[in-house]
Amino acid sequence: MAEKTVILGVTGGIAAYKAAEVASRLVQAGHTVKVIMTEAATRFVAPLTFQTLTGQPVVVDMFAAPPVWNVAHVAYAAAADLVLIAPATADVLAKLAHGLADDMLTTTVLATRAPVLVAPAMNSSMYLNPAVQQNLAILRGRGFHMVEPETGRLACGTSGPGRLAAPEAIVAAAEELLRPACDLAGWRVVVTAGPTREALDPVRFLSNRSSGKMGYALAQVAAARGAAVTLISGPTALAVPPGVERVEVTTAAEMCAAVLEHFSGATALVMAAAVADWRPKAFSPEKIKKGEHKSLLLELERTPDILAAVAPRKKPGQLVIGFAAESSRLTENAREKLLRKRLDFIVANDITRSDAGFASDANEVKILWPDGRVEELPRAAKEEVAAAIWNRAVAARKDMADAAPK
Ligand code: PMT
Repeated sequence: MAEKTVILGVTGGIAAYKAAEVASRLVQAGHTVKVIMTEAATRFVAPLTFQTLTGQPVVVDMFAAPPVWNVAHVAYAAAADLVLIAPATADVLAKLAHGLADDMLTTTVLATRAPVLVAPAMNSSMYLNPAVQQNLAILRGRGFHMVEPETGRLACGTSGPGRLAAPEAIVAAAEELLRPACDLAGWRVVVTAGPTREALDPVRFLSNRSSGKMGYALAQVAAARGAAVTLISGPTALAVPPGVERVEVTTAAEMCAAVLEHFSGATALVMAAAVADWRPKAFSPEKIKKGEHKSLLLELERTPDILAAVAPRKKPGQLVIGFAAESSRLTENAREKLLRKRLDFIVANDITRSDAGFASDANEVKILWPDGRVEELPRAAKEEVAAAIWNRAVAARKDMADAAPK
């Protein structure tokens, strides 16, 4: 990857020392790293540490900046390919959420057009406080990217969420954002998202807890990277991402028909939808009355398996990527689906977790390949997971092209 400029904001928490490793890894990856520290951060780590690791001056005091930087926050903001704040304290999150700009870091963030990646770290009670969670939600809504904190032992002796993500996870998330944006130009991708609904009568249906967030993140990221995206969506409350064509469906049969219609011209299909496996065998056109019945037996039949229907239509050069939603034996069950559905790779997630999988803004996935490889990705915002999946798709397509007879 060509060298990029990363503005690394370090704020005042005990995890500030870990930012030194983040800076070092980014420099080793070939990037220019310019560090801005808050006054509080300098109580934990000396600016000299970052200056030595990055070979760049460290800015703390906005007004002490060299005279040529008389509009230094704008200069830093304009130079940035990415602004990364690690660790991000509750204080800086509040300032960013409310647009305050009372130091070099917050002014730079307000002035930049680069993506902003935030790695929160704080005591778990502070992290779970509704004020902090609301600020995080505001920032996510504004397009800030997050590296979620880990759960574990904290410096204050308690245990819970709030520990700064591992430096390698932070750097991986930064690299995802620094990648050239248009590597999917020329691709036509089909993404499915959300649940399906299988009607029982005019008021009742069988469905599941899918919110559509994972599939919509895949569609949004693919469009941002230059792909022409068709998003085949079950019922969700989500808005259509910019530049994406949405096809709305309700049932598994409708989703199957839409996928088969769009698959023939597609470079890649990603099945993130939680398709119902069963539907009522008979639809009652009238609302089923309670009447005298103490119980009701429903007879269900299988819905079409969309990926099974796609497999025989797959042409050389087309990628088919599935998901596996598992509540146990994640790797084993996902591997069985990968092979049975003849996928290029499968993305496995544990749907028993409340902080990942269904409805959460974040996900933690394993990617399984037909050659036996298993990659474990750190828990991250669904947009970050989506970016990681598209990176794998780009690599898989390149491998296909290299292997094709010349
Ligand atoms: O929507 P969110 O709230 O963001 O939640 C995301 C998610 C948990 C729904 C997503 O990450 C996910 O795991 N999606 C796949 C859900 C699922 O149906 O998994 P499965 O293991 O039952 O199915 C395996 C694969 O076969 C999936 O790619 C599925 O889309 C596909 N399938 C399933 C049934 C069917 N009849 N036809 C299919 O093609």
